[in-house]
Amino acid sequence: MIYKSPITDHNSPITIRSLLRNTAVQFEERGIESPRLTAELLLAQILQMKRVELYLDFDREILEEERNCFQRSIERRLRGEPTNYILGEMEFMGFTLKIQKGVFIPRPETETLCEAVLNQIESVGVWDGLHQNDPNGRSSPTELIVFEIGCGCGAISLALALQFTTNHKYPITNYRIFASDISEEALQNARENARRLGVSSNIQFLKGDLFEPFHPLQLKADLLISNPPYVPSSLLDQLSLEIRKFEPREALDGGEDGLTFLRKIVREAPPLLKKGGLLALEVGEGQASTVQDLINPKGGFQEVEIFKDLAGIRRGVLAKLSVKESLQN
Ligand SMILES: C[S@@+](CC[C@H](N)C(=O)[O-])C[C@H]1O[C@@H](n2cnc3c(N)ncnc32)[C@H](O)[C@@H]1O
Repeated sequence: MIYKSPITDHNSPITIRSLLRNTAVQFEERGIESPRLTAELLLAQILQMKRVELYLDFDREILEEERNCFQRSIERRLRGEPTNYILGEMEFMGFTLKIQKGVFIPRPETETLCEAVLNQIESVGVWDGLHQNDPNGRSSPTELIVFEIGCGCGAISLALALQFTTNHKYPITNYRIFASDISEEALQNARENARRLGVSSNIQFLKGDLFEPFHPLQLKADLLISNPPYVPSSLLDQLSLEIRKFEPREALDGGEDGLTFLRKIVREAPPLLKKGGLLALEVGEGQASTVQDLINPKGGFQEVEIFKDLAGIRRGVLAKLSVKESLQN
């Protein structure tokens, strides 16, 4: 379909109000999700305003140069490019991440994974074997070690780092995060995000296949976290055009039944976890029980627990390595 400019009436001035209205109508006609919000996000970026400021200056006239830039953004969106690639950024757990083309766009449900893990950490007792008693009788880990597999633009590791650094409710004084990805583009994006957010000194981003980059470290982790590719290969072609055409296939393709990476992670995690260490995995819709079964019978895990996302979908699994089994490793 040929792109039709939403700016049609050349006799009356083009304002924020009229431009948003016309663009939202056009997006809606073309089946773009959240048409009004998308129009607002794209226009706010061009005008270098916050979204709320658009409403405070609704009758501001739009200059020709601004209109041209906005039209280019609209055309990209109409061609199916995800809004976050056009904006070059996104919000995750209350902070802004840069996101570049070719790197997986973090999804809101992954915030649920971060929150489930943070809740465990807050409740202490996850790391029974590691805690030292402080003078106040409270126990806290000496140093928390985190491994993340498949970090993408860094969303999960950065969310944890920012919470550990700024939120005093987590009993963590010292932490190190090691995050791996197979994609150099993703790692570059993640390193830039860590620099911008001021947590570079606590996170190392390592290139390699799954656990491979962690072996030379000769460390065991208190927390091993991952949102791996989990879409069954046969369903990839059924994903929306914007995902299929723009997001990296290697971030999505979970093999024949979608469980290839999850299976490997469950199998290989125990020797890399400290006693009482936590394995935290995001899974696809309908996969939670299978992953729970994969974890349950072997590997020395205990307390396997499923958590749901905000839509009520069973979205992930938390499993604690038993102290006894780990001591045998
Ligand atoms: C679903 S994305 C998750 C990205 C990010 N953690 C998030 O939650 O937004 C999966 C990530 O795993 C990475 N990946 C795919 N195969 C991998 C492998 N064999 N080893 C390490 N990372 C891999 C992809 O490049 C992608 O960044």
